[in-house]
Amino acid sequence: MKDINIGILGCGIVGTGVAKLLMENHELLKSRIGTGLNLKYVADLDTHTPRGITFKEGVFISDAEQVLNDPDIDIVVELIGGKTIAQTFTLKALENKKHVVTANKALIASHGNELVKTATANGVEYAFEASCGGCMPVVKSIRESLVGNRIESFTGILNGTCNYILTKISKEGCPFGDALKEAQAKGYAEADPFLDVEGHDSAHKLAILAALAYGMEINLGDIHVEGISNITPMDIEFAREFGYCIKLLAISKNEDDTVEARVHPAMIPLDNPLAHVDKAMNAITIDGDASGQTMLYGAGAGMMPTASAVLSDIADIARNIISGCGQRVPILSYPGDNIKKIAV
Ligand code: HSE
Repeated sequence: MKDINIGILGCGIVGTGVAKLLMENHELLKSRIGTGLNLKYVADLDTHTPRGITFKEGVFISDAEQVLNDPDIDIVVELIGGKTIAQTFTLKALENKKHVVTANKALIASHGNELVKTATANGVEYAFEASCGGCMPVVKSIRESLVGNRIESFTGILNGTCNYILTKISKEGCPFGDALKEAQAKGYAEADPFLDVEGHDSAHKLAILAALAYGMEINLGDIHVEGISNITPMDIEFAREFGYCIKLLAISKNEDDTVEARVHPAMIPLDNPLAHVDKAMNAITIDGDASGQTMLYGAGAGMMPTASAVLSDIADIARNIISGCGQRVPILSYPGDNIKKIAV
């Protein structure tokens, strides 16, 4: 059986983690998948900053086109982030009939349908477990484990940075700015942390999960989004006195095909399990008509947890390639415009 050749685009925090995992767990992955995962390229414009990895000769390159145009590359892992170059490279990879794995929630939330359609038309997969909830397996849970359900609602803590900041303020009295700096140093925050603290990263994840859960295209602009930048230590203290904590929640409900979708800070009773999700951990409760409530919990951000989620998609695709079956679950959602904006 031939090795599956992988090219990573973007060697930032997550790209470095995926490269490490592919190299350090090579034999374990080979035994589980049935074939080797060969890291053929890691492409990044910056090939000088040390990443703590010793790449084989010719692996660490600066030219992404070399990855996209190499006929031997089976899977492109897009970890550049953002929406411009990442979209161009993703489309090119899919059109060149390469499977694409990504953690790029901003791109999927705004162009997911188009990219999934391009993947489907080219007989390859666009996979994005790592886009939501870090290593918490929420995408696969909704698409696969809960596929027999009509999903009625879900409520999640989907941003590790905000949860880290709120935990540090509430449990250690740490100032907001210092907590954010720590979250950045730990590799949790986006390149532009405005996306985290103002709730947009949670909204991207909410849009993706709602599209999967309800089979409906979710317009990002229709989601009510409010972040945590206006939360004061006094708000947190008052909440605690009344038996609550404050968390940034992503909430969605589907009633009679009308979807409610919102991101905002919320007071949670201390006896609710979501109140005990601390630091950069994520959690989500999903309510299905057959399953009842399912709760998932896991590391929502950071190098290795996110790399773990990327590897789950790489492994799925590799297994599909060697078993000769093409795509796994091609459809992200179906177009629809019946989302209702709810004021909080
Ligand atoms: N900035 C994101 C977070 C990274 O803090 O959750 C993981 O998506």
